[in-house]
Amino acid sequence: MAARSICCVKQLAESPNLSSIPSNYVYHSDAAEISAAKFEASIPIIDLSLLASQNPHLKLKAVHDLDQACQQWGFFILVNHGVPEELIRGVIEAASEFFDLPEAEKPEFQPENVLSRIRYGTSFNAATDNVFCWRDFVKVFVHPHFTCPDKPQSLRKLLPEYCERGRDVVTKLSKAISESLGLEETEMATVLELSSSLQIFVANYYPRCPNPKAAMGILPHSDHGLFTLLVQNDVGGLQIQHDGRWLSVSAPANSILVNTGDHLEIFSNGKYKSVLHRAVVNDQTTRISVATANGPSLNAVVSPARQLVEAEGGAAAYAAMKYEDYLLEQQSSQLDGKTMLKRVRIHQ
Ligand code: OGA
Ligand code: NI
Repeated sequence: MAARSICCVKQLAESPNLSSIPSNYVYHSDAAEISAAKFEASIPIIDLSLLASQNPHLKLKAVHDLDQACQQWGFFILVNHGVPEELIRGVIEAASEFFDLPEAEKPEFQPENVLSRIRYGTSFNAATDNVFCWRDFVKVFVHPHFTCPDKPQSLRKLLPEYCERGRDVVTKLSKAISESLGLEETEMATVLELSSSLQIFVANYYPRCPNPKAAMGILPHSDHGLFTLLVQNDVGGLQIQHDGRWLSVSAPANSILVNTGDHLEIFSNGKYKSVLHRAVVNDQTTRISVATANGPSLNAVVSPARQLVEAEGGAAAYAAMKYEDYLLEQQSSQLDGKTMLKRVRIHQ
């Protein structure tokens, strides 16, 4: 039998008269479940400017709110984040231009090689996925060494500043989280070597889908890093799991959606659980999202914060693992909920 040829889903979606999806895109969940997700009014909103407030009462309250958001949701809507709206819009537009380039002008299509600095591909890991995601992506390592695709020019122009602003956001969040864990403000940055943090820029392209109730844009998963910052082109699709139910997230104007990742769960010794999330697709229009994954340094060997383990009588809930090894293993596997995190979890 001929090897399955893998092509980007954008081309597939643009093929004339496409009225149904190929069987390898059928996600085996019942259609009713995908459409049952409700919008939730109570998703926490965090005001980043208050986390750095000079007023100690305002700051304390903001740190407390962040703590609650991370404990109860692993997810929040960030406002007053300091990233200019035009910059966000520009980056989303540049991502759109990237996907619109002729295939010959995009980086080589790579189903494998999960740690290459620029990886253009489809689904999650097309080399191993059983069920394909209705999604193309480009993933670019932008810190500690900056890389960028050659085209489009708009991306080359805007990406450095966008990524730097994102790291500023993460620096503030990591200080506040250190405090909310009862640690020194700089503890997380020091232990996880955040001055050389891994930052990956991910642009996701979810074309119109003729059968959105059968397909999934990205299968349920948690992110590997500490915090993922997500913005989108005014088209919703992100869902998070909360109290066992899937909830659709709508993003207020000029906000950034933030989800907590596996390494925050590990560092906090399980206090802040990474959130399961997924993206659904629609039959009306293309959705583009830009997710920036912010993790420890690739060289950091991450384990639960020493002070937290001591306070809990010496019980670390997760085994130490080098972030690079974790990333390699997670990205080389099929996307399946929190499977990778379970591998380092210590059962007591
Ligand atoms: C991701 C992701 C969700 C979305 O890129 O890790 O979860 O809404 N994206 O695009
Ligand atoms: Ni994700």
